[in-house]
This record gives sequence, structure tokens and C-alpha cells, in this order.
Amino acid sequence: MVSREIAQGIHWVGATDFDRRIFDELIPLPNGTSYNSYLIRGSEKTALIDTVDPTKEFDLISNIVKLNVDRIDYVIVNHAEQDHSGSLLMILEFFPDAVVVTNEKCKDLLAALLHLQENRVRVIGDKETLSLGDRTLEFFLTPWTHWPETQITYLREDKILFPCDLFGSHTGTSDLYVTDESEIYRSAKRYYAEIMMPFRNSIKGYVEMVKRLPLEMIAPSHGPIYRRPQFILDAYADWVSDTVKNEVVIVYVSMHGSTQKMVEYLTGALISRGITVKPFNLTHTDIGELALSLVDTATVVIATPTVLFGPHPQVVSATYLANMLKPKVRFASVIGSYGWGGQATEIIVKMLTHVKVELIEPVMVKGLPDEITLKALDRLADAILQKHKGINIA
Ligand code: FEO
Repeated sequence: MVSREIAQGIHWVGATDFDRRIFDELIPLPNGTSYNSYLIRGSEKTALIDTVDPTKEFDLISNIVKLNVDRIDYVIVNHAEQDHSGSLLMILEFFPDAVVVTNEKCKDLLAALLHLQENRVRVIGDKETLSLGDRTLEFFLTPWTHWPETQITYLREDKILFPCDLFGSHTGTSDLYVTDESEIYRSAKRYYAEIMMPFRNSIKGYVEMVKRLPLEMIAPSHGPIYRRPQFILDAYADWVSDTVKNEVVIVYVSMHGSTQKMVEYLTGALISRGITVKPFNLTHTDIGELALSLVDTATVVIATPTVLFGPHPQVVSATYLANMLKPKVRFASVIGSYGWGGQATEIIVKMLTHVKVELIEPVMVKGLPDEITLKALDRLADAILQKHKGINIA
């Protein structure tokens, strides 16, 4: 992808990866992604903000060379993860006088991950500034805008924020800027769910901090640039808030049809009570879509058959993931079936260590669900309705 100027003397020089379909061997990328890198020329110094994934280092250097850049003074590293730092050593080799500018924690991680020599690094602290002559970079240390070493960089005179992962979206597009906010909303929400949601409480504060900055653009390191920063700031304010929606996410697997029948009955019972239901059959669920649905659902119901003495392994995997993502879900229950016994419910409940949920009476049945089971599912639907009425629902 060719470089483009986003403001006078500031170029996007990154790479777009239209074909990438999985990230960290975990997160599906239905729309690919981009690794955004920005070149800022001041009257005295030139800085590069972040690099790109090592698979795309040729794109980065080619974009820089084509701009006739003969010197880079500073490489700002906002985050040590390799999709942003992976081409750093190549850049340092190409520009031997360039100095890496980052915080202490990031310096340590770069030493561990890339074997970056300490003498190439200038360590900065929170709110420290760096002059490029007529332009000033200001750094804010923002731990847990993915990893503990993450920081964001603000270009004062141009009012542009470079927040690296924060506010990004895994969107591989030829558009430099957001053109369709509704399309990016979904992509950015999915990205938030997969990457930022576990750190919701920290990010709440950062959103407030960013809101106080005069802003013309937010230029993240994944996905298109926001020329209307309020759009993504408002979206984040909603996602990180404590408000949940009148929704139930049901994750399930069924081996011989009993759990499926229970899921279908409960789905109908909840819908008839005015509750939105999002069922996910884990045998063919895109976990990114599941994560997205967890952002603001009030309740999760985990539905499982019993395999040997415990839950189905795919249910275990989904429960583990949901627990790690720490959604603001308020209530949970377990339903399902067993043949000769087991501890599926107990095992699932013990896995929910990172979410502060109130457990609603589980419904487990021996074999096929019968009338008694259906009545129990009606009671579960009633209980969920009452719980939703008792909290702040959007
Ligand atoms: Fe885009 Fe945490 O790296």
C-alpha cells in the first residue's frame, strides 16, 4: 500500500494486510488488518511512530524510501508487541543514527523480544515531551492499552493522537480514513472485545483523559484514521461503562439433541419475555462474534452436555475465553444434560473467576428434557427477567 499524507509533513507509511485471517493464532480476522506507521517531519527532526509486522517490513521501508527520507532521528515505540515493533531492527539498521524513544517497561520488553541494545534507546516518562523543531510530541504512559508497557503519543501542534492499539480496528481497507462509521463501529467493537475489554477499568480513565485533549484526528495503529474523534470516543465511553443491555448470550454444544432442545426452549421463553437472545453453537462459532456479543450482554447462559464427568471441551474453551475477556456481564446460569452423572455445572462455575456474576439456579437434566425440565427453564427465564428489571439496563 502506498504512503499517503495525512497532514502537511505527516505521512502514513504503514502496511495493509488484506489477506491475514488470524491474529496471535487465536483471533479470526474476517477483514484482514493494517499495521499503521506514521512519519512526522519537523523543522529539525524526523520521527517515525511505530513500525509494522515483520512480514510487511518491505512495505514500510519502501514507503519511507519513496518519500526521499534520508534521516530518521527518532523511532517512537508505543508498544512492544511484534505487529508494531517487528520491523524496528530493520529500521535501525537502515537509519543507524535513529534513536528509539519509549518508556522503561517497553525498553525492557524490546530487549527481551528483539534483543534491542540498550544504547539505542532514550527512555521517556509520563507527560514528557520531545521537540522535532516546530512540532512537539507528548507521551502518555497508558499501561494495559493491551500490554503493561503501552503508551500513546500526542502531536500537539497538529492535534493528532497516535494511540497504537487503543481505538483501533482490525480492518484491512484501502481507505485511509473512516468513511462509513457504522461499518467501522462493528469492527472496532469486535476489536475492543478481543483486545481491550479485559482492561476495561483502566481504559475508562484513558478515554476520559483523551477526551480532554484538543483533537483533530485519532490515528491508531490498526484500521482507518478517525477524522471525527468523537465517534470512537463516544463508542468507547459506552463500551467501558457499567451499563448492560437486556440481552442473554447462550453458548452451547449439543451431542445428541437434549441440550439443543433446552437451548431452543429457553431461547423462545426469553424472547417471549422481551429479552434479546444471542445463541452461539460452539461447533461453528466465530469467537470474535462471540466476544463482540459479550461486550454489553447482561446475562450469559452456558449450555453443555456431559462428556465423561464434565462439560464438553468446546464449552470449557469458550468459558475460559469469556472469563479471560472479563466482560461486564452481571448474571450467569448453566443448563444441559447428563447420562449417568458428572460435575459439569460445578466445573463451569469454578472457571468463572474473573467475572463478577450472580449465578442463577442451573437446570441440568438426566437424558431427554421432559415437562419438568421445560418448567424449570420457564422459571430460569422468569428469574433472568426479574434480574434484568433490577439493574441499570440500557
Ligand atoms: Fe497491535 Fe498489541 O498489538
